[in-house]
Amino acid sequence: MIELKNVSYGYEKKNKILKNINANIGESEFISIIGKNGSGKSTLAKLIAGIIKPVEGEVLVEGKSTKKKENFLPIRKQVGIVFQNPENQIIFNSVEDEMRFPLENLGIEGKDEIIKNVLEKVGLAGKEKQEAYTLSLGQKQRLTIATVLAMQTKYIVLDEPTSMLDPIGKVEIYEIVKKLKQEGYTIIYITNMIDEILLSDNIWVMEEGSIKHTFPKEDILNYIDEIKQSGIKIPEIISCVQELKKENISIKLEEWTMEELTKEIVKEIRK
Ligand SMILES: Nc1ncnc2c1ncn2[C@@H]1O[C@H](COP(=O)(O)OP(=O)(O)O)[C@@H](O)[C@H]1O
Ligand SMILES: [Mg+2]
Repeated sequence: MIELKNVSYGYEKKNKILKNINANIGESEFISIIGKNGSGKSTLAKLIAGIIKPVEGEVLVEGKSTKKKENFLPIRKQVGIVFQNPENQIIFNSVEDEMRFPLENLGIEGKDEIIKNVLEKVGLAGKEKQEAYTLSLGQKQRLTIATVLAMQTKYIVLDEPTSMLDPIGKVEIYEIVKKLKQEGYTIIYITNMIDEILLSDNIWVMEEGSIKHTFPKEDILNYIDEIKQSGIKIPEIISCVQELKKENISIKLEEWTMEELTKEIVKEIRK
């Protein structure tokens, strides 16, 4: 579990960016964090990953405070983070070196096998020797995800990893995240993509440095306005279920696919 206890943070002393945040992230939980630009999502992501430390309060990763120096390495082994722009994350020339370096730093054994397996998982199988700069932006982002996965952390924080990618690149990341969810990873996903939000267990809405609302995905219809206000486009399927609800036809969806919706409507008609 990751616990945020009365966490406040400011880049400058007088200007608090995050104000008194209290929240928990449970094992194998998938949380989507949404909110307008500047609401503090990236700052919160960095706090959760232990990259920056709270000015007040504490972030505890399985009981270990990110404020303590001796916890730095153990927390690195438990929480991985992927940022928006892969160009700023890749340091080494080859795909393999990029993945190997953190593994060496953390003293992880069986590197070749891990690298091979993880590259397969992100759709970059056999690219060990490729020069990283020759990868497409989408491939680069998958490499940064692979680098984190190779570290075998239990928690993974993704800060808008698809925002710079084209539609195909977005779908490729979506498929990886779906796999990670199935594998029981704990995922903290900052996103403005409704498809990802619909994969999550719980949603946090950030506003001006606070977590204004938290709700389980099942309650999404009660928070449509908040979601819209975060700058997220509501897809037709959600509007459709909402309209049905107004007609007192209550439909519960798991996957939010058209196929699932059609099946549920057919069931209603045949009742
Ligand atoms: N390195 C920094 N130094 C000073 N202020 C920053 C820095 N990074 C972000 N901020 C400010 O913190 C606030 C929250 O930013 P951020 O966490 O990036 O929000 P979001 O990810 O939701 O867009 C913004 O007002 C932003 O200008
Ligand atoms: Mg951000």
